[in-house]
Amino acid sequence: MDLVAWARRHRSREDSGNVLSELRERPAESVARRTGFPLPFVEGVQSFYDDLHSDPRKPHLCTGTACTFAPAHILPAGTSEVHCMGQCYAPPAGRHRTPPPIPWRTIVTPPIVLRGLLAVGGPSARAEYDLPSGEEILDAVIASGLCGRGGAAYPTGAKWKAARDTPAPERYVVANGDEGDPGTYVDRLLLEECPHLVLAGMLACARAIGAGRGIIFIRGEYPDAPGKVRAAIAEARAAGLLGGFDITVLTGAGSYVAGEETALLAAIEGRRAEPRPKPPYPAERGLEGLPTVVQNVETLAVVPWVVRHRRRAGTKVVCLSGAVAHPGAVEIALGTPLGEVVERGGGGAAPGRRIKMALVGGPMGRVLPLSAFDTPLAYETLPGLGHGGVVLLDESVSARRLFEHLASFARSESCGSCTPCRAGTWQLDRMRDEASLLRLLRTIETGSLCGFGQGVPRPIRDLLTHYRREMFAC
Ligand SMILES: Cc1cc2nc3c(=O)[nH]c(=O)nc-3n(C[C@H](O)[C@H](O)[C@H](O)COP(=O)(O)O)c2cc1C
Ligand code: SF4
Repeated sequence: MDLVAWARRHRSREDSGNVLSELRERPAESVARRTGFPLPFVEGVQSFYDDLHSDPRKPHLCTGTACTFAPAHILPAGTSEVHCMGQCYAPPAGRHRTPPPIPWRTIVTPPIVLRGLLAVGGPSARAEYDLPSGEEILDAVIASGLCGRGGAAYPTGAKWKAARDTPAPERYVVANGDEGDPGTYVDRLLLEECPHLVLAGMLACARAIGAGRGIIFIRGEYPDAPGKVRAAIAEARAAGLLGGFDITVLTGAGSYVAGEETALLAAIEGRRAEPRPKPPYPAERGLEGLPTVVQNVETLAVVPWVVRHRRRAGTKVVCLSGAVAHPGAVEIALGTPLGEVVERGGGGAAPGRRIKMALVGGPMGRVLPLSAFDTPLAYETLPGLGHGGVVLLDESVSARRLFEHLASFARSESCGSCTPCRAGTWQLDRMRDEASLLRLLRTIETGSLCGFGQGVPRPIRDLLTHYRREMFAC
């Protein structure tokens, strides 16, 4: 049977309808029997996703950057590692506890992304769905110059126009809630606390491109988000706010690379989340071969504001964690220097700790030493800003330890499809001199298919630039 046709037929059931979600409920043999797919295919899907072959009864502890370098972090023997649970503001995190609420604040007035969290003065959820015609929405999004907040900063309007202009019987909108960068949790905040902004953003996109169906893909490490989003969908449906637009929620199963847009679509279709070459881009040929707009959750939350105000949304949420006095999600004006964000948004260094450097934009982001904290946080001035995670590291963390942490993340999350990334990430921390490491970085960067392999060298190059001696000191 055709995988796409099968997944499509079953997708109307919430969080079911693909081999991936079936595997959560029953063993591979049973899934193969039920679906008619060959057992090796089903086992191939199972072996790809950490959550489908790890023991759920084992204690899980987070080994994301903020948790790894938190003073109290110890990884007991027999503990399963999770690369980030979106609780970087209160480390060390584990599946054994209920996460504390995400602290948030704003150093711009009024906030745009976090407007839904304002107790007084924020627009009501219902007003977010008050959208004009598809043509007007597309014009407003293009005119605003809105760029994606998920990392690549691609112009949102251009993507929507490409999807709308591609002849097709049907189109899809996909909200990317896979937020895997250790150090980020704004998508979790939005999905759990103001899902209507995301739904209204999806509705705007659907209207602009002519899509009838939407899917929200939420990472498995965010167990509370799917229920809250489903409740919001039910509310919006009951109030007649979605019209004929149908939205389904699917959840991930423990793969970082699944956040890459083509891999995400493979996961939604119930396959191994392996990125494919582009072009064709998903906007032309995405889910089930149909034009599909994949948009980050934060980007979608901004869209209704942009449509209402018809102007540039020059803000972004950065997530502070690590050696900072007040970790949390902070909305800033894009272009605010990192040092000012840490001082005004995070209250400076945590008591008794001296900040040495920041990892900005996750494990494929940038390392900025304290001397470079005057760098403005914007996509133009800091390529690698990514989704905006800022993990502050204190003087107890050597450049070598951070390098080894990044190398370990890279080798465990590489999907393994291309050799430079698969084999190269295993070699990273075995390089004993700078010249060999630089050669390897160049091979990984130029020989890798997707943004993962292409981005792995980025923070390591920064470490070499700023902390050359620490990198190879034994
Ligand atoms: C390895 C890798 C992981 C990614 N993970 C995410 C993710 O978790 N969330 C996300 O929105 N985008 C992620 N992206 C970027 C997506 O491919 C895509 O550009 C994005 O979802 C588009 O939405 P935006 O334009 O609103 O940013 C990732 C990219 C790569 C290469
Ligand atoms: S670069 Fe790495 S993560 Fe991306 S497709 Fe190749 S092996 Fe997979």
